[in-house]
Amino acid sequence: MRHGFWIDQRLRAVFSAALTLMCALPAAADGVIPLPAQVTPGSGSFSVTPQIIIRTPRADSGAQLAARYLVDLWTRTNGLTLKVDGLAAARTGNRDAIIFRREPGLGREGYRLSVAPHRITVSASSSTGLFYGAITLWQLLPPDGGAKQIPAQSIRDEPQYVWRGLMLDSARHYQPPAFIRSMIEWMAWHKLNVLHWHLTDDQGWRLEIRKYPRLASVGAWRTAVRPYGAPAPAPGEVAREGGFYTQDEVRELVAYADGRHVQIVPEIEMPGHAQAAIAAYPELGVDAPQLPVSVNWGVHTHLFNLEPHTLGFLEDVLAEVIALFPSRYVHVGGDEAVKNEWNASAAVQSRAATLGIHDADALQAYFTQEIGRFLTAHGRRMIGWDEILRPGLNKQAIVMSWHGVAGAHLAAVGGNDTILAPWPILYLDNRQSTLASEPTGRMTVIALEEVYRFEPRDALLNYAQRQHVLGLQANLWTEHMGTERRVQWMALPRAAALAEVAWTPAARRDWDGFLERLVPMFARYRALGVNYADSVFAVAAKVSRDSGGISVALSNQAKFATAVRGDIRYTLDGREPTPQSPKYSAPVTVPEGSEIRAAAFMGLAQASRTWARQLDAHAGRRFDSHELELCSDAIGLLLQPATAEPDATQTLALDIMNPCWIERGVDLSAGPRIVAAVAPLPFNFEIGADAAKIRIGDARSADGELEIHADGCDTPAIATMPLAPAATGWSTLPAIELPRLKGRHDLCLRFARPRLDPLWALDWVEIGS
Ligand code: ACM
Repeated sequence: MRHGFWIDQRLRAVFSAALTLMCALPAAADGVIPLPAQVTPGSGSFSVTPQIIIRTPRADSGAQLAARYLVDLWTRTNGLTLKVDGLAAARTGNRDAIIFRREPGLGREGYRLSVAPHRITVSASSSTGLFYGAITLWQLLPPDGGAKQIPAQSIRDEPQYVWRGLMLDSARHYQPPAFIRSMIEWMAWHKLNVLHWHLTDDQGWRLEIRKYPRLASVGAWRTAVRPYGAPAPAPGEVAREGGFYTQDEVRELVAYADGRHVQIVPEIEMPGHAQAAIAAYPELGVDAPQLPVSVNWGVHTHLFNLEPHTLGFLEDVLAEVIALFPSRYVHVGGDEAVKNEWNASAAVQSRAATLGIHDADALQAYFTQEIGRFLTAHGRRMIGWDEILRPGLNKQAIVMSWHGVAGAHLAAVGGNDTILAPWPILYLDNRQSTLASEPTGRMTVIALEEVYRFEPRDALLNYAQRQHVLGLQANLWTEHMGTERRVQWMALPRAAALAEVAWTPAARRDWDGFLERLVPMFARYRALGVNYADSVFAVAAKVSRDSGGISVALSNQAKFATAVRGDIRYTLDGREPTPQSPKYSAPVTVPEGSEIRAAAFMGLAQASRTWARQLDAHAGRRFDSHELELCSDAIGLLLQPATAEPDATQTLALDIMNPCWIERGVDLSAGPRIVAAVAPLPFNFEIGADAAKIRIGDARSADGELEIHADGCDTPAIATMPLAPAATGWSTLPAIELPRLKGRHDLCLRFARPRLDPLWALDWVEIGS
């Protein structure tokens, strides 16, 4: 009996250890993004220990590069550094080894990965395939430094689409070369392979062109926007911002990208988005205007003219671009070329008459054809935004569809290759959630799940037409992304979702599985120092007052569908939430003075950052611009005053066409006190005739007022709060009492202002404290 009891105890211990191990052990392809095309689980597992040797054929530089990349990543995310050596002559020397080898027939980017208990083999025909095999292998090991086991499995993998891209706008904000290198890295981690580099625009020309030095010395620099109310600068003290890439830097970046199997495709914009070039060389513009490099965001109206010397200039520029970038593709923009100047200019009209062309869109088509001919003659394929899709477009040209996906459909039907980059879903300057933690950007919410569920396959195309769809890319327009941290936040993890859409067969895509794989990926991002967005898991709170105290309702985007092992956990004692903290299931009511902290968990792993809120006298009474309703959303943006630090987390949500917010159901029967915080913003937007639609000139005083209206924004104001600029940009307006009105009312808060600039924004409002 005693004996039996002892065995029972031992068995139980063994069983429990096995259970723990099973829970800790990842399943096949766990943690890999994008999910491989085919995965077959095996039995047993491979132990990754420091004694394991990575073996590559001795003369195979592609295999060695892939192996070294794997070593570097495991060192950084797992603290595990393996040795790389040549292939052992005897097969037994390849036991307890990771072997990179060539195998014919696996395609341009494909690879096979076999994990057995004593050997891992990565096989590919190409260096790219070996590199992608290394990336997958890196992600098969959980990043926490705990488990070192990779379950036995065989993977056969290759992408669905050859073009898996991100566009980086370096014109609106210049990013230093180290930033570009870092971006190439995080693209490579998800097998993204095209960096479409938007190098020129109205706000900056970023590429050194030897034949035209003023493009860099003048075109790369603009006057920094000054905070409202700041003293005028002394002569010669005008702050400039910008920068450009020297040709040496570009060559180095191209080689760096090549080492990560990323192709850099340059974009030189024409005939619109040309103001920086025209600022440097006025003779390129329509009627030689003297223009500054623009400090405004939006669609500008200055185009290149159509004189032979301007086409000659563009060909000279493209010749230097071709010499710098080995890519087969050159992007020449073509979007948003507003034709007002061409239509109004006698010189352009005379040129059009000489060419026998009678409408402005046909003139742009002529221009595109000329540039296309030049590129074809130099062995390159032209890419343009979907505005280039006009009758007569060369069949070699590639159409980048951004007005939704209609351009891609038409291009494919017409026999042109095409790339999907549709607004708004693949525009990563759109915010990811309604949370106040989102950085500056556009108000439209493009949540991670929407990107993940984007369907690139056009069911109306036949097989042959479908071959014209090269792939997809997401765009990082940087008007509102002034720093590397912001670009990373806007890109990751949505670029990881894009990678899976572009790589993984549609039938294998799985949102819940993606979320589970994202949690270890977040840990890798942290280890690698990348500022990813946790918006999909981040805790959102609705705070309100009820008779029992302060009520807090928590939620998140992931919602933790039943297939996902996740939940929100919280504390009320100031401690960090853990997987053992109470699980949130319904709104909690707590007394004033409490502090709530919450985070999302997936099993034992924390999936979101911790959110915390002091439930003080302001809770449930003070609402910020993210929590209030906007009266309209014509051009909705999250912005900051010009005084804000570049990475400041506090943003203001507003419609720049109508800065106006609504707080619903406010009890005015006691004539409550109202306090509001506001900030002036530079009106640096180019919106053409729409500027006339913005209500201005209704101010009662020099700087204007915040008006409070009850029951409709067009009723007479029930109160006003005068504005005055503060040195810091932010100011809290002195409290006033609202008139007593029976019952509850929807309050509308809007600004009366004397002129367009500045634009005022509401930070928060508090009523009835
Ligand atoms: C674009 O967003 N103007 C291509």
